[in-house]
Amino acid sequence: MPDNKKIAVIPGDGIGIDVTREAVKVLKTVQAKDRLPFMITEFDYGADRYLKDGTTMPEVQVEDFRNNYDAIFIGALGDPRVPDMAHARDILLGLRFKLDLYVNYRPVKLTDVRLCPLKNKAETDVDFVVFRENTEGLYVGMGGIFKKGTADEIATQEDVNTRKGVERIIRHAFDFASQKGRSKVTMSDKSNALRFGHDLWQRVFFEVGEEYPAIEKEHFYVDALTMQMIKRPEQFEVIVTCNMFGDIVTDLGAQLQGGLGLAASGNINPAGTSMFEPVHGSAPKYAGKNVANPLAAILTAGLLLDHLGYSEQNTQIEQSVENAIRTDNTTRDLGGNLGTTQVGDFISDRLTNL
Ligand code: NAD
Ligand code: IPM
Ligand code: MN
Repeated sequence: MPDNKKIAVIPGDGIGIDVTREAVKVLKTVQAKDRLPFMITEFDYGADRYLKDGTTMPEVQVEDFRNNYDAIFIGALGDPRVPDMAHARDILLGLRFKLDLYVNYRPVKLTDVRLCPLKNKAETDVDFVVFRENTEGLYVGMGGIFKKGTADEIATQEDVNTRKGVERIIRHAFDFASQKGRSKVTMSDKSNALRFGHDLWQRVFFEVGEEYPAIEKEHFYVDALTMQMIKRPEQFEVIVTCNMFGDIVTDLGAQLQGGLGLAASGNINPAGTSMFEPVHGSAPKYAGKNVANPLAAILTAGLLLDHLGYSEQNTQIEQSVENAIRTDNTTRDLGGNLGTTQVGDFISDRLTNL
C-alpha cells in the first residue's frame, strides 16, 4: 500500500468557492498524471453552514484534522451576512490557534515585470518571503468591552507576545534563510512605541541572531518597512514580523507581485497538520461570477504539495502559472480576458501535457 496522504478542503465563502474549485482541479490533474497517493475530502464549513445550523468548526473536527489529515486547503472566509465574522474566527483563526500553526509563510515573488506597479523593476527585484507570527499578538482575542453603547464605553484588545512564541518564529526565519542560502533576515516591529511586547521582539531577534553569524540581521520599524518595500524591495530576502503587521505587509507585498490574485500562503506547524490558503479574502462582489483569479489558490495548492513532499509537482505548477501570465491566459485583474474556470483549465491542460 502506498503511503496514502489525506487532504481536507474547505472552499469557504464567496470567491473562496470559485478559486478552490480550480485549485482542486489542478490537484486532481497532478494526482492523475503522476499517480500521487493522496485523498481529497471536502468540508462545507463556512457562512452558509453557519447560517443554516450554527456550526462553525466543531471540536471533534479539529481533532480529526489533527490526527487524521496531512494538510488542509482553505479558499477564503467572509460573508456580508455574518458581519462580525463569528464563523471565520472559529474556522480560520480557530484552526490557526488550535493546530498551533505558528508559521505563516507568505512568499512574494514577481513573475512578470508587467505586473509590478513600481517603475523600473526587474523580476529579480521582488523576491522575498514574509514569516508572520500566526498564533499570538493582537489576534488572541484577549480584552473586552465595558459599558458598551454608552458615552463611557471602554474597549481593550491586548497584544500578547510570549518568549516562546516570538522565539520560535524568529528561529524559523533564520533556519529558512540558512537552508535556502539567503544572506539576511529583516525583523520588523514597533518597539519605539510599544515598549513591552515589541521590546521582547528586539531582544529575542538579536539574541537568536547570534546563533546565525553568517546571516545579516536588519531591523525596520514597521512604518519604515512599508516605505522601504515600495522604495527598494530588492533589499529584502526574509522578513519576520508579528501577526498584525504580517497581515498588513503581505497585502502590500501581494500588490508588488501583481495583486492578491497571485499571493499564496501556508499556515504551518512544522510538527503537525498544516493549512494552506491564498492571502486574499472572499471578495463578495465577485463571488460566483467566474471572474476571480484562481492563480493564488493554484499556487497555494502547489505549496501544499511541496509541504507533502511533492516538490517537483510544485515546480511544475509554478512554471505553468508563469506561462499563463506570460501568454496572457489570465483573468482581467492581470490584464487577460479569461474566466476563473478557463484559467484553471489552462493550467490543468499545461500540466497534463508536460
Ligand atoms: P479581499 O481580499 O476579499 O478583496 C479585496 C479586493 O482584492 C477585491 O475587491 C478584489 O479587487 C481583489 N481581489 C482579491 N482576491 C482576488 C482574486 N482572487 N481575483 C481577483 N481580484 C481579487 O479583501 P476584503 O474585501 O477586505 O475582504 C472581503 C472578505 O474576506 C471580508 O469578510 C474579509 O474579512 C475576508 N477575508 C478573508 C481572508 C481569508 O479567509 N483568508 C483574507 C482576507 C479577507
Ligand atoms: C488573512 C486575513 C485574516 C487575518 C482575516 C480574515 C481574519 O486577512 O489571512 O490575511 O487577518 O489573518
Ligand atoms: Mn489579510
